[in-house]
Amino acid sequence: MRRPAQHEEIPMRALRKPAPGPGLELQEIPEPSPGFREVKIRVLRTGLCGTDLHLAGWDEFAAAQLNPPMTLGHEFYGEIVEIGRGTATDATTADDDTDYLSIGQRVSVEGHITCGRCRNCRAGRRHLCIRTNSIGVNRDGAFADYVVVPARNVWPQADEIDPDLGALFDPFGNAVHTALQFPLAAEDVLVTGAGPIGVMCAAIARHCGARNVVITDLSDYRLSLAAKVGAVTVNTAQQDLREVMTSLGMTEGFDVGLELSGAPAATRQMIEVCNHGAKIAMLGLPKAGYEVDWNQVITHMLTIQGVYGREMYDTWYKGSFMLGSSRELRDQIRGIITHRFAPEEWSQAFEAARSGQCGKVIINWED
Ligand SMILES: NC(=O)c1ccc[n+]([C@@H]2O[C@H](COP(=O)([O-])OP(=O)(O)OC[C@H]3O[C@@H](n4cnc5c(N)ncnc54)[C@H](O)[C@@H]3O)[C@@H](O)[C@H]2O)c1
Ligand SMILES: [Zn+2]
Ligand SMILES: [Zn+2]
Repeated sequence: MRRPAQHEEIPMRALRKPAPGPGLELQEIPEPSPGFREVKIRVLRTGLCGTDLHLAGWDEFAAAQLNPPMTLGHEFYGEIVEIGRGTATDATTADDDTDYLSIGQRVSVEGHITCGRCRNCRAGRRHLCIRTNSIGVNRDGAFADYVVVPARNVWPQADEIDPDLGALFDPFGNAVHTALQFPLAAEDVLVTGAGPIGVMCAAIARHCGARNVVITDLSDYRLSLAAKVGAVTVNTAQQDLREVMTSLGMTEGFDVGLELSGAPAATRQMIEVCNHGAKIAMLGLPKAGYEVDWNQVITHMLTIQGVYGREMYDTWYKGSFMLGSSRELRDQIRGIITHRFAPEEWSQAFEAARSGQCGKVIINWED
């Protein structure tokens, strides 16, 4: 299955952190080649996320996680071009944990690499692995013409998933994982934070038959994206959330809360406006610890569930099946993309993402 060795020295573009400290460089480096149970993917689209901004800017998280030189990028879609030995290509080569893969297959990739040997991994709960590594953080990522990833992390995509949509599967998976923590049908759902993942959560809540889906943010630009997926939008810097609830005929409180801002004020407000017995799923990452009114959590018997990454691979099945069965949802999720750039325009892409005046920012490696 391996191509001749001389192919490995062909230079490719890669957006890299060359050394510890702020900044990135678009460099030419040799194409990688897949090792045991790895595949090489030609990258077609990548998405930018908050993590990439942290890594590019070099904050404490970046300094603790990154070991430069390193290629960033973990949200992507591409095409398998080479298959390393030991990888299942059909029933005769199957191992216990990989879909059958083939050259030319279009795929997205789970960015979390789990250890396989901790208690949770061995129990099949790989999203709870205690030694998770990340593509584009702890090993070379997808902001490049080619990336090599473990075969078991590959998610083959159906034809109806175009490259743009395929590049969104990592954050879309975060949204699926969060939104499906609790039943949503006929419930009143509050989403705090109308970033790309919050808007995706709102779209999923509508898709799942929630009664009212209300989303809050402090940015009118962000809320305009949420309005397109049919959520009731509230700018809590200007509007009273309780008044909106009254205008919707809500007399008690929200049944389900989905926290996608990481903002302490948003979480406190969510606890405040949830009904007794409400369920809250939290994906938004705060910058630091903060206080909440635990009396309310306790006396209102709230359930608060932390959410990390995606379930491997049930979230991927659920996300694919939801998108596969609904053109409307596909259009809504794709509609969250607001900016597209070429690799050579990477600094403009990062600038757009940093501005907050954007939905999802995509870099197109195809042309
Ligand atoms: N747990 C995980 O595995 C995981 C994975 C990916 C992202 N995240 C986190 O999930 C969150 C959502 O990701 P994203 O890419 O959509 O982020 P984002 O930063 O683009 O969006 C967050 C939004 O919250 C809004 N916000 C700020 N203060 C608010 C307030 N008081 N009330 C309401 N909204 C407020 C911001 O204006 C912004 O639009 C982020 O915190 C991110 O770090 C967690
Ligand atoms: Zn991401
Ligand atoms: Zn593990």
